[in-house]
Amino acid sequence: MTLTFIGHGYVGLVTACVFADFGNEVYVLGHTPEKIDKLKKGNPIIYEPGLEELLKRNLIAGRIKFTLDYKDCISKSDIIFIAVGTPMSSNGEADLTSVFDVTEKISSHLKNGYTVVACKSTVPVETNDKIRDIINKNITSKKIEFDVASCPEFLREGSAVNDTFNPDRIVIGTDSKRAKDLLLELHKPINGKRITTNIASAEITKYASNAMLATKISFANLFSEFSEKTGADVEAIMTAVGLDKRIGRSFLYPGIGFGGSCLPKDVNALVHITEQHGVDSSLFKSINKINIQARERFIDKVISNVKLGSRICIWGLSFKPNTDDIREAPSIYIIRELLNKGYKLNVYDPVSLDNVKMVFKDKISYFENQYKALKDCAGLCILTEWNQFKEADFKKVKKYLKNVIIFDGRNIYDPRRMKSLGFKYLSVGRSLL
Ligand code: UDX
Repeated sequence: MTLTFIGHGYVGLVTACVFADFGNEVYVLGHTPEKIDKLKKGNPIIYEPGLEELLKRNLIAGRIKFTLDYKDCISKSDIIFIAVGTPMSSNGEADLTSVFDVTEKISSHLKNGYTVVACKSTVPVETNDKIRDIINKNITSKKIEFDVASCPEFLREGSAVNDTFNPDRIVIGTDSKRAKDLLLELHKPINGKRITTNIASAEITKYASNAMLATKISFANLFSEFSEKTGADVEAIMTAVGLDKRIGRSFLYPGIGFGGSCLPKDVNALVHITEQHGVDSSLFKSINKINIQARERFIDKVISNVKLGSRICIWGLSFKPNTDDIREAPSIYIIRELLNKGYKLNVYDPVSLDNVKMVFKDKISYFENQYKALKDCAGLCILTEWNQFKEADFKKVKKYLKNVIIFDGRNIYDPRRMKSLGFKYLSVGRSLL
């Protein structure tokens, strides 16, 4: 089949490469010339394990092409995927400007014949109806036939390639049998349970999935506060709770709250979407509140233990390991607050330093080496659980730190071991161990 992906972020680029790998002819359309130039040369722009190799393989084979021009691809395509961002607007709602903007452009280039316009972007319920209305309003020829479909994407950053080759489920929401059959055909080489449903259900499924994940994390974070106040160990509690097969252990890891480009934005959007439909939004508001409180409790621990004005070291800046993405990362919030309190900061991250530099410029000090970042610091904060921190050289950590205190926002060390090594060790939900 011939496909066009509009958008080359984590969803658009990864999915495009995977479908190209299965032998489809794939176009990826963007609007920034410098980015399209890099992509044409095999530079994926984003850091995502396995992506560069996949991109280069399909470029060499001529199965994937990058363009800035709708004329190059829309009229050739059997299926057009909208995979542009739907960022959080200032009031928390999903900003659909890009979705509607690209829809306008698609509609003036559709071919005489049949095309499916499938939305992969996370969009509020009824958005695909609006996409259909925009296209209907703009098309001029009676020979143009099209259907819309909602095909939400569930890939995670850091494992996006693997998730796309091996998804748990493929959700296809459309009211048209023709569109459903074409989308099922396209997905044939990919395993994973198929859920075919109507458009509204598919649109809501994506929000429901992310809200469930966020709920589990906030649940764990609420119990970490409860544990700190009662001398309990949240990790033991969550392990025991998670052993119940009906619940499962995943996403019950407490810490400094969820970040990234999806969970915070989607929970915020759900507050608005549910309210607009007269549905109680209090669960989603609480998830958000607990998420912010997790970061604030972490900051309070630092303030209570490190003299104001001291220099502090931070290990880990990306919103989770194996990505350079810092969107809504807890680290950004924590750095900003610590700077406001008057602390000086040395920061280290294996891949996201450049992105953080763009935010904080010369307000903090950046280090390419995790141990050198410790020099003259009155404490170490761990904000992302990169593997390389898990077996750190504690002799060096002790030697360089002025104060041997570690604030672990991700519970990567055993508190007893840290105590025996001579550290004051403050983690999440198990401080009394
Ligand atoms: C998420 C969804 O998992 C994915 O299905 C969807 O398509 C996009 O949004 P992603 O944003 O890549 O994926 O990250 P995810 O792995 O879900 O982690 C989100 C945040 O939650 C991270 O900041 C992570 O550190 C945090 N988290 C995760 C916890 O604090 N505790 C956990 O137990 C799990």
